[in-house]
This record gives sequence, C-alpha cells and structure tokens, in this order.
Amino acid sequence: MNRQQRAIAAAVLTPQVKSTTEKERKSNSFHRLFPLLLLTLYALASVVRLAFSSPFPSSFVQTSASSSSTFSAESRQESESLKTHVPSETHRLEAYEENPVAAAAPPCSSFIDGTAESRDEAAAAFVCCDRSHIRSDLCYARGDIRTDSASSSVLVYGMKSSAERVRPYTRKWDAAITRTIQEISIRPGNDSGGSPRRCDVRHEGVPALLFSNGGYTGNLYHEFSDGLIPLYVTAQRFRGEVVLVVAEYRPWWMARYRPLLERLTNYQIVDFSRDRRAHCFSEMIVGLRIHGELIIDPWLMPNGNGIRDFQALVHEGYDAVAQSRPSLPAAESPPFLRPLVQSTRREPPGRCSRGRRPRIAVFVRKGCRALVNQRELVRACQRTGFDVQIIEPKRDTPLDVIHRALVPADVMLAVHGAAVTHFLFMRPSSVLIQVVPLGLEKPAEEFYGEPARRLGMEYVAYNITPEESTLLKLYDRRSPVLVNTNLITNRGWLEMKKIYLDKQNVKLNLTRFGKLLAKTYSHVCGARGIE
Ligand SMILES: *[C@@H]1O[C@H](CO)[C@@H](O)[C@H](O)[C@H]1NC(C)=O
Ligand SMILES: *[C@@H]1O[C@H](CO)[C@@H](O)[C@H](O)[C@H]1NC(C)=O
Repeated sequence: MNRQQRAIAAAVLTPQVKSTTEKERKSNSFHRLFPLLLLTLYALASVVRLAFSSPFPSSFVQTSASSSSTFSAESRQESESLKTHVPSETHRLEAYEENPVAAAAPPCSSFIDGTAESRDEAAAAFVCCDRSHIRSDLCYARGDIRTDSASSSVLVYGMKSSAERVRPYTRKWDAAITRTIQEISIRPGNDSGGSPRRCDVRHEGVPALLFSNGGYTGNLYHEFSDGLIPLYVTAQRFRGEVVLVVAEYRPWWMARYRPLLERLTNYQIVDFSRDRRAHCFSEMIVGLRIHGELIIDPWLMPNGNGIRDFQALVHEGYDAVAQSRPSLPAAESPPFLRPLVQSTRREPPGRCSRGRRPRIAVFVRKGCRALVNQRELVRACQRTGFDVQIIEPKRDTPLDVIHRALVPADVMLAVHGAAVTHFLFMRPSSVLIQVVPLGLEKPAEEFYGEPARRLGMEYVAYNITPEESTLLKLYDRRSPVLVNTNLITNRGWLEMKKIYLDKQNVKLNLTRFGKLLAKTYSHVCGARGIE
C-alpha cells in the first residue's frame, strides 16, 4: 500500500469514527452503544486472529517489508471490516445494501479473494462489487454467466440485483485515464425476457478473470505495476485453473508477456475485443486487485506469496525461452545490446562474483534524461574493474533478450525512467544504482527504490547535484529550479514533468560517481554494504 492509499484509508476511517462519537454524545442509550461494543470486540478478535494466523516467521517482517508497511496492511484489513460492519452514509458498500444474497453471505471481497467459506455451486446467481479500494473496483459474479463482447457486457442469468458497471483497471483514482478504459456492464441476461444467448464456448468448472489491457499499457513500468503484478495478485491462487478474458486486448502485449501469462493460466486467453463468441462460465471476477507500486503484500495473499515469488515466475518464464532458443539468430543480433566491454583493471578479480569480473549493465536512454558523458562513464566502470554491458532498449526489444543480458549482471545502472523496471530481471542480491536527476527524488524512491529493497536488492540512489544537470545551461545557478526543487514539484506532476522529466539530461561528475562505483565494486567482490 503506498502513501496515498494509506492516507485515503485513514481519511475513509476518520469520518466514521467521528460520526460514531457524535452519535454517542447525542444519545447515551445502551441501544446505540451496543454496535460499537460489538465492533470493538470484532476488531480485537481480528487483531488476535491476524497475530496468530501469520504464516511468516518474524524475521520475514524485518527483511522483506518495512514493519510500518506490514502494520498498514493490517490496518487496511481493519478498515475494510469496519466499513463492512458499520454502514455509514458516505462510505456504504452499495453492493451489500442492494443485494440480499450477498448481504447474507460473507463480504464480497471474500468471494473475490477466494476466502469465502461457502462455495456452494448451487447457490442462486448473484453479483457483488467491492468498490472500497482507492485503486480498483472488482466485481464477483456467480451463476449462468455468458460474455457478450459486442455490447461490452457480461450477462448473468437469474441475477436479482440491477446491472453493475465497472472499468477493470487499477488506476481508479486517476480519473483521466480511467475514463479511457472500456466499461464492462454486468447485467441480468434476461431482463428483456426471451431465451438465453447461445453458449459458443463452455468453460466447465473454470472461473474467468476479466480485466482491461488499456490505460498506460505501452509503458513498461505500468505494464508491470498496473497490469502484470495485479494480475498475479488476483489470479495466482487459481494455480493456472482460470481463464483470462482481456478487454482492450493487444496482440503485441500477448507476444511480449506470453512466458509469464502461460504460468498464470492453463487456458487460451480470450480476446474480449475481437472474440464475439459467447464464452460461458459459472464464476467470474471482473477487475484486478492491486497492493501498491510494484508491490505484493504477502499478508493480503491467500498463500502468502510476495514480490519475490512473482520475480521467480518472471525468471522461470524467460529462462524457459532462453533454453528453447539458446543463441540469438544473427539477424536478430540486436543493436539494443552492445557487445560486452571488458574491464581494464589489471589486478585479478579475486573473490569477485563467481571468480570472474563483476558485470555492470548500463541502461541507455535517448532524448530526455540521457547520460551526456556515457563514454567517460563506461571507461570509469572499466577502470574500476567492471565488464560493461550497454543496453539500449526499444519499445519492441524482446524481453527475453534483456532478461538474458541482465541475469549475469551484478549491478544495474539506469537513470530514472520506465526502464528501471527491468530491475525485476536481476538476481535478488544484486545492486541497483538509480541515477536520480534533479527534482525526481520522490518518484524515484516510490516507484523503484522501495520496491527494489523489498525485492532484497542492494539499492542506491545517486542524487545528482545541480552541476551534473544540463538544466544548469537553461536556468540561473540560483534559480529555484536548481536549488529549491520542491518549490516546483509541489506545483504538481505536470510542472515536474515539463521541467525535470522532459528537459533534463545528466552529465555525471565522474569523480563523485567514481567513488560510488568503487564502493559498489568492493561490495560485489566482498559482499560488504555499500553505504
Ligand atoms: C430470468 O431467468 C431466471 C432463471 O432462468 C428466472 O428465474 C427469471 O424469472 C427470469 N427473469 C425474467 C425477467 O425473465
Ligand atoms: C565533482 O565531485 C567532486 C567530489 O565530490 C567535487 O570535489 C568536484 O568539485 C565536483 N566537480 C564539479 C565540476 O562539480
């Protein structure tokens, strides 16, 4: 859960607590207090239950997640149960109110998360939606379910409640992008009478998971953070026994991520954009769960899986590709992967990484946030003792090629940008150096720093000085743009983008950066801490 979500979760909680105390003041009858008492007992019971049901040794809490985030995971569960048990005017969960079947059953989220105890297949058809999260809405449907992609609908025969509409993408709070997402209508199949739509493909006993592949798909960071990781979070518990139904389907996405997708589903993926056939299911989830930026919170996973399990799946998938295609055909011998540059250091690598020279992978950007003195940087790396692999990824660079280049690397070096997401392809104990241009400290930490540490990587942010920014050529040395970046970034993302993301290149001070390289080298060779 990121800071924003925490803030919202807190904000959602506060009014309820407040209104309860106000009520309390107005009427001191026991009658009014009783629900509060029950609630307190329930909350206590949940805390005790959580404390005892944790499948993790306490060391886990210290190594993988900061303890504060572990607590926030708990408190979010608390806030969910509060919302479920104290209907408040402003935050009531409409699905429960409208739907008597769901109201009598466990909360909707327990169906979505697979923790509902009653799995009675013969139960009446019903649909419930969990709209309590800041990042995504999810609906759960059970009954005779048939897709009708022509009308962007999922038909549920015998469903008693009225239609639900959902945009199954994980950036609900981001209204501008959410508006662009295809809206799915989950509606009664026969409200106009008539016979049910014919079943073209019947999926017996396998649930469906419908989600959108629109929005920011096309940006590597978002493909993982908003798409693949939430997909893992929502689908992994089925262990392949789930049919993925993809709205706003993109064939290139399918090709790019097939090695991962094949490990999440045993079935063919349904293209909801073009496949007009009626696919029939008895259970369906619409939407994806998300825990935060490039994060999986094991406390919220049915089987306790975390981001490292996701990473293991990534490695497994792309390793398998490498095995089936041992050497890249010459024609594909790609310009985005330069030949390895050997270290120029004389003394032998000693105890270094597996008895060979440690390797640094340097990601190169064109346009903005480029490394102006890349050649000097490469020489500095060579002198320090690194073999250097330069990677210049393009939009269509096959991921297995980048994966293959990163697996033998001990250090990854990249300027802040979507390409930093490739750190997911590194080995867990390796080093990530993120060069952070002026004004980008916050996104650098939130999007990559924290997730990299959670993955068990040694993470270093190299915050550049104004002298290392090409903004020095555009602004006065005393301008707030250079000396008081908060003043600009506090004006919002657009302002930050205009100046710091789009106009800035980096000229590393190799005296300063060289010190970090030397420390990193001795860390890799002696496994000491860097900072
Ligand atoms: C729709 O179908 C269900 C079950 O087949 C039936 O119980 C219900 O009455 C039907 N509703 C309408 C409006 O036809
Ligand atoms: C480069 O960094 C070194 C060490 O931090 C510093 O002494 C030097 O002044 C810097 N050079 C420039 C041009 O800023």
